[in-house]
Amino acid sequence: MNFDRHRRLRQSGFMRDMVRETKLSKDDLIYPIFVVEKPDVKQEVSSMKGVYQISLNLLKEELDEVVALGIKSVIFFGIPNEKDAEGTGAYHDHGIVQEACRLSKEHYPELLVILDTCLCEYTDHGHCGLIDPKTQDVDNDSTLPLLVQTAVSQAKAGADIIAPSNMMDGFVTEIRQGLDRAGYAHIPIMSYGIKYASKFYGPFRDAAESTPSFGDRRTYQMDPANRLEALRELESDTLEGADMMIVKPALSYLDIIRDVRNNSNMPIIAYNVSGEYAMTRSAIDQGLVDEEVIAEQMISMKRAGADMIITYFAKDLAEKINKGEI
Ligand code: PBG
Repeated sequence: MNFDRHRRLRQSGFMRDMVRETKLSKDDLIYPIFVVEKPDVKQEVSSMKGVYQISLNLLKEELDEVVALGIKSVIFFGIPNEKDAEGTGAYHDHGIVQEACRLSKEHYPELLVILDTCLCEYTDHGHCGLIDPKTQDVDNDSTLPLLVQTAVSQAKAGADIIAPSNMMDGFVTEIRQGLDRAGYAHIPIMSYGIKYASKFYGPFRDAAESTPSFGDRRTYQMDPANRLEALRELESDTLEGADMMIVKPALSYLDIIRDVRNNSNMPIIAYNVSGEYAMTRSAIDQGLVDEEVIAEQMISMKRAGADMIITYFAKDLAEKINKGEI
């Protein structure tokens, strides 16, 4: 007549702290910032309360706040003044994210800067690469050299980590070789190779003004219904030399994070994307759920196997961690 008494280990706060399996730390947080080329702008993104498009001349204030909270890494996204069919703003040496990176390095050399290597914020059609006029689809191989150029210009600007999110086949190999040739063999690649064609990116596209003007991204981003395909992407990116792997989105894809964790020894990053942020934020603001759901969501990503989390909630979380509330 014996039965397990699981409640023994739940009886007090200290006891629960002692046996807790998953913890969230400020070291895990990566904060995304949208930087606009136009001066004097600090404008809230309508679909993402609490998230702003910020001009370069106002960026330092934002970085002051981020650093004071104890956040150790940021990822910049750029909104250029002009876009064209080739996305030239992405690989311009003085492009918007390159300049944001320089400014950040000038004031806060230790703050890790991650730059997103993609063309969609810089193309007038909003796709992640060059459009083949015959098929009206993104052309893989002619896009690759532009991505290499983008990554090299980002490394030249002082980026600590290159994060390619374009989903062209072979991008890790090409970018690795390009970085090595240009003298940046020491710069790691955080691959967004497991990126689903998701409707959860909607608010990001408002913020980055990067909604495709025709078609969608399903010929290069992954089908949300597929799980084994994620492992094939993982395998390729591992062979191609990725140093870290992003899974994106996060919350509807926790099974994928776990699969990647079970099949790789690389650091894994969950991208808690804009739509996930917007849904949670608006439910909290409407009083439908308590704001503690934010930490619970983060813990679920870590429990699934993520080491780090890119999240628009990073500042809120850091503040709570600092107060000892998490
Ligand atoms: C592409 C990129 C996207 C996101 C990050 N990098 C958008 C896309 O593929 O449309 C989305 C992130 C989010 O929704 O928070 N540069």
